[in-house]
Amino acid sequence: MNLDVKKETKAYFDSVAEKFEGYYDAPTLGNQLRHTFVQERNRRHILTYLQSIKSKNTPLKNILDAGCGNGDFSNRLAREFPDALVHGVDFSMEMLRLAKKRRRNEIRRLSFSRQDLSRPLAFPTETFDLTICLNLLHHIPPERQNETLRELTRITRSHLILEIKRRHLLFSALTRNRAFGFLPVFPTSIREVRQTIESAGFVLERLLPVFRPLFLCPVVVLAWKRKETNDRCEGR
Ligand SMILES: C[S@@+](CC[C@H](N)C(=O)[O-])C[C@H]1O[C@@H](n2cnc3c(N)ncnc32)[C@H](O)[C@@H]1O
Repeated sequence: MNLDVKKETKAYFDSVAEKFEGYYDAPTLGNQLRHTFVQERNRRHILTYLQSIKSKNTPLKNILDAGCGNGDFSNRLAREFPDALVHGVDFSMEMLRLAKKRRRNEIRRLSFSRQDLSRPLAFPTETFDLTICLNLLHHIPPERQNETLRELTRITRSHLILEIKRRHLLFSALTRNRAFGFLPVFPTSIREVRQTIESAGFVLERLLPVFRPLFLCPVVVLAWKRKETNDRCEGR
């Protein structure tokens, strides 16, 4: 990975970590639009989808929040899945410090560690029943994104949920590849991500745009399921 980009991205997230406390509730209009509106909607979509998995009695015992930031959603996952072990990884020490501070009653089931998601991950193959990766991929330079996706598929046994920013007229026009002028970002496309994840043996179960019509929507959540799991269920 381009070292300057990595250093810049890490320094940025270390420096804004305190601001991320309450980021999603921040009262400014910009934050409400970018984070409360977009991220909260995505999270609601994801939690609804997860409820449908839960109601099919699919065991989700080990969950990874990849690029967990301040652990906000990791905590929510731990609450939603009271029988699961939830682990969050991030490369920002400041984000992880806040994530550990935030963890409350779930303390025994919720843990965090430092990992660089642009590098091979220190987890054995198919460790997690469910891997969730929100708001991260566009921080990885394009030449490393496939590697990141392949690692996420390798460590995932069953379900993978990925949020992407699309290399899309609207997003590109808004960010010009630097998110609001201060951070390099690298949006991608649904097609490219599908190619990589499907070739790793996953099928797309849901495509959840933050709003419709899809062609105008710069942020989508993609919910994948490992094919073998599908086949196993069908064979029952
Ligand atoms: C915009 S925040 C999103 C946090 C969380 N997923 C959420 O949706 O609230 C992006 C996070 O990705 C982390 N990140 C960026 N590049 C990373 C990398 N190469 N390895 C690990 N974490 C990374 C940042 O430190 C930051 O916490």
